[in-house]
Amino acid sequence: SPRRMVVVRAEAINPDIRKTEEKVVDSVVVTDLAKPLTAYCRCWRSATFPLCDGSHVKHNKATGDNVGPLLLKKQ
Ligand code: FES
Repeated sequence: SPRRMVVVRAEAINPDIRKTEEKVVDSVVVTDLAKPLTAYCRCWRSATFPLCDGSHVKHNKATGDNVGPLLLKKQ
């Protein structure tokens, strides 16, 4: 069977969204949530994807990118 190779390039994945911000993080307040806070990865680098594990910090440092998680907050 053919083997697949995953290539992760050390380059920014956000070319033009809100580049004046140090880190693009968005929060949504939701009433019907089991946990008080859940962070969803938007940098595609998390080992616990789709949850954020903080890997965006290393990615941002290595590439000059400014990606950050989507936060769901329980009201
Ligand atoms: Fe991807 Fe935090 S690890 S946004």
